[in-house]
Amino acid sequence: MKSLPANNQEWLIKKIIKKGGTISFYDYMNLVLNDPKNGYYGSGRATLGSKGDFVTSPSMSNDFAFLLSKQIEEWLIQLKSKLVFGNNLSILEFGAGDGSLMSGLLEYLFINNKKLLKNVCFIIIEPNKGMIEKQQKKLEKYLKLDFDISWRSLEDLEDISLNAVVLANEVLDALPIERIINLKGKMYRQGVSIDKESGRLFFDEIIISKELEKSIATAEEKLDIKIPPKDAPEGWTTEWHIDNKKWLKAIYEKINNGILLIIDYAKEAKRYYSLSNSNGTLIAYKNQKIVENVFESPGDCDLTSHVCIESLIYESETLGFKTIGIVKQGEALLSLGLAERLFEIQNELKDDISKALSRREALLRLVDPICLGDFKWFVFSKFKNKKTIINSSCIR
Ligand SMILES: C[S@@+](CC[C@H](N)C(=O)[O-])C[C@H]1O[C@@H](n2cnc3c(N)ncnc32)[C@H](O)[C@@H]1O
Repeated sequence: MKSLPANNQEWLIKKIIKKGGTISFYDYMNLVLNDPKNGYYGSGRATLGSKGDFVTSPSMSNDFAFLLSKQIEEWLIQLKSKLVFGNNLSILEFGAGDGSLMSGLLEYLFINNKKLLKNVCFIIIEPNKGMIEKQQKKLEKYLKLDFDISWRSLEDLEDISLNAVVLANEVLDALPIERIINLKGKMYRQGVSIDKESGRLFFDEIIISKELEKSIATAEEKLDIKIPPKDAPEGWTTEWHIDNKKWLKAIYEKINNGILLIIDYAKEAKRYYSLSNSNGTLIAYKNQKIVENVFESPGDCDLTSHVCIESLIYESETLGFKTIGIVKQGEALLSLGLAERLFEIQNELKDDISKALSRREALLRLVDPICLGDFKWFVFSKFKNKKTIINSSCIR
């Protein structure tokens, strides 16, 4: 049993005690991120961007939304050409954070393609009320202009109703995960317990659930991996993305014709479930820094983990999605015209060198492999006509 010092908060202690003193790590992550009153996203306490706790591509640079918009516009035009007259197009964004990407997209279409904009409705799927408030504030200008922007839950949408481009930038990494640990030759599910006297949180072990066991066995069989890997030491730990399949299925069922773009930190299965990755990829962030102890300041930090590339592809394709391609963010943005954008910035801001330099730096961080450039873009499609071919400039 590994014990860690913790800066616990009353609200969380009460919830864990109510559940008998131990909860699964999955439940812990769900609470500290999504609890409506005290969770990091649920309460809206999450601050994104260079002045916040961590940067995401859209919160760091408006040029990200500009370049991605070019790709979305290309997809929408192709989708429109393949639709029956009268079918509406949608852009659906999961987990829209502070609204930067949606705002950039609206701006791009408003300036560059008003005709297309008229045929598109904008839907945000965001379970956290605190974040919805931030998004509504960011999109105020467009809401006042009466654009068709709505916040919906996926369940509210009719099955096979969407002709859409569906976006999820850094959303899968925020979904709660299970943690599993190798102890005495057996895998256990990690739990989080509370020492009632000291109020300290610590990792505990609980019996692995049937659902988890089945999911691991399927991955071992289909992805040719071993969990834990051969000769794994005592305490080898990893994450298990138990919700990805359900999340993908829920989207698949709503799409009539469409593209799904997932952008996230990702690792190949062979590297993810390897001896060298002995403690998974779980990380807590606050004030642009990694917080070593994931039990520190629950509800005040972001918690995030990488997705597994092959698992995501396998789960998507099993449902019926077609994989159009996987590309590194750096390459995708270069294909979409990042170099030309740099040139435009230089010209646009030639009288304001300091502004030009900071725009340039932010743009370069999007493609820097040790910053955001190593993110993966997963492009999947679902078309009624399975032979439909779609061009994607982001994939060369
Ligand atoms: C790391 S932030 C990314 C925000 C934004 N996409 C960006 O890149 O700036 C994760 C976002 O996903 C939201 N989120 C968490 N769970 C979600 C779920 N099950 N469905 C949709 N969004 C979710 C969070 O509230 C938050 O807005």
